[in-house]
Amino acid sequence: MSPAPRPPPHPAAEKGNHHDRDRFLQPRRLGRREFGFAQAVKVDHTICVRGRLSHDDEGHFLRPDDFEARTGQVFADFEKVLAHYVPGIGRRRRVRCRRSPTKGPTRMSSLFTPLTLRSLQIPNRVWMSPMCMYSAAPEGPDIGMPTDFHLTHLASRAAGGAGLVMAEATGVRPDGRISPWDLGLWNDRQQEAFTRVTAAIKAHGAVPAIQLAHAGRKASVDKPWLSDRYLTEDENGWQPVGPSPVAYDGLAVPRELTVDEIRQLVRDFAGAAERALAAGFQVAEVHGAHGYLINSFLSPASNHRTDAYGGSFENRVRFAIEVVDAVRAVWPEDLPVFFRTSATDWLTENPQDEREGWTGDDTVRLAKELQTRGVDLLDVSTGGMVRDAKIAAGPNYQVPFATQARQATGIPTAAVGIITEPQQAEEILAGGQADAVFLGRELLRNPYWAQHAALALGAEPTWPDQYAYVVKRRTH
Ligand SMILES: Cc1cc2nc3c(=O)[nH]c(=O)nc-3n(C[C@H](O)[C@H](O)[C@H](O)COP(=O)(O)O)c2cc1C
Repeated sequence: MSPAPRPPPHPAAEKGNHHDRDRFLQPRRLGRREFGFAQAVKVDHTICVRGRLSHDDEGHFLRPDDFEARTGQVFADFEKVLAHYVPGIGRRRRVRCRRSPTKGPTRMSSLFTPLTLRSLQIPNRVWMSPMCMYSAAPEGPDIGMPTDFHLTHLASRAAGGAGLVMAEATGVRPDGRISPWDLGLWNDRQQEAFTRVTAAIKAHGAVPAIQLAHAGRKASVDKPWLSDRYLTEDENGWQPVGPSPVAYDGLAVPRELTVDEIRQLVRDFAGAAERALAAGFQVAEVHGAHGYLINSFLSPASNHRTDAYGGSFENRVRFAIEVVDAVRAVWPEDLPVFFRTSATDWLTENPQDEREGWTGDDTVRLAKELQTRGVDLLDVSTGGMVRDAKIAAGPNYQVPFATQARQATGIPTAAVGIITEPQQAEEILAGGQADAVFLGRELLRNPYWAQHAALALGAEPTWPDQYAYVVKRRTH
């Protein structure tokens, strides 16, 4: 194939001629006075191509209608140009052209299709998973309050295009925090401080969500980058509580909760939900996963009670149901409630492990019940009940549990766990395996993941206005 003639570089693009294979920009002379820019982005094995006219040769931006009028010329022999700059493309890879950014996506992306739950429209299905940051004051008047760090941490993922941003596990009472540095939502100062966070998330068009939590027998631990040990009362720690005096490996033996205390805990969850609503959150998630209090009532591995809260399946799920009922009762009819579950403890399903645990089938039974109680989405994680469970973690390893619950009950589900690539996330949704994906670590690595994924999947990124007018017209 003969190489396409190289046009003279436009002044605005002199530095913009990137020859790397992942992303490059090629100025094209389109007429006597106009230049077009074509950008190619490599997504897995597909090259997505978009073109735009961005400047005339005096450096003025062209308006979208100018673009429309001239689009046809942009892609004239574009494949030849690509082949010239990205060796082998024309021969081995399919080139997909997108003609006009003003006409919207040429391909429908499941990931960037809004999801409506009750009356709440969530603009896309890339959601930020709750992640403890261990960065709040451990004591004193500011105890458990979100700080500037939390504001930046959460708002930047909203600016990065996540459709829903969930604040970390937030203690419904002081002894419900995982560590002394966790967020809390049991007093007025905390509630007030959260209003800044929700406003910032909403300002970027995302939905603010919060995970309401009690850490139970896994409470009172150190910051994980310092150690994984239990902190004593002399170190700002406290006596943990649980359904039974059965310790999580390496941590303190919890004190068994009385029935009166259990009833108070249900009220504490409801109180925190009321505060979350007053602070501006639009989704409340009940944390029923990862071996924390609610999960530890569910699982026979940690719940050895013989009263109405232990023993049979119905008794073990009683606390979870009571919490959900109490949260649902104070949460508005038109806003959704989520429940995060550990779909399996990875014990019963493992033929080499003799311990009895919570299973995927139990999750389906619970999901049916939660659905009738007004839970709108099951956020499906796994594990966290025992330290030494054998888990074959890898990309999508938890997705089958989200699919199982979704197919068996019809409840919308979110999948989470080692979902890192746009195409991977897209396939989970397009294949009907889940309704949304939560991303954790990948959003820590790249707060703008959703914007890049949108571009990669042929959807329109939602850059903040302050960025959009420059980053959409890439010149270098
Ligand atoms: C630093 C960190 C803190 C986390 N804190 C929470 C939390 O507060 N609540 C929760 O349910 N899961 C928590 N998780 C689990 C994540 O929400 C997510 O389920 C997990 O990281 C798997 O997703 P990923 O592979 O995309 O990171 C945390 C994970 C990380 C890495």
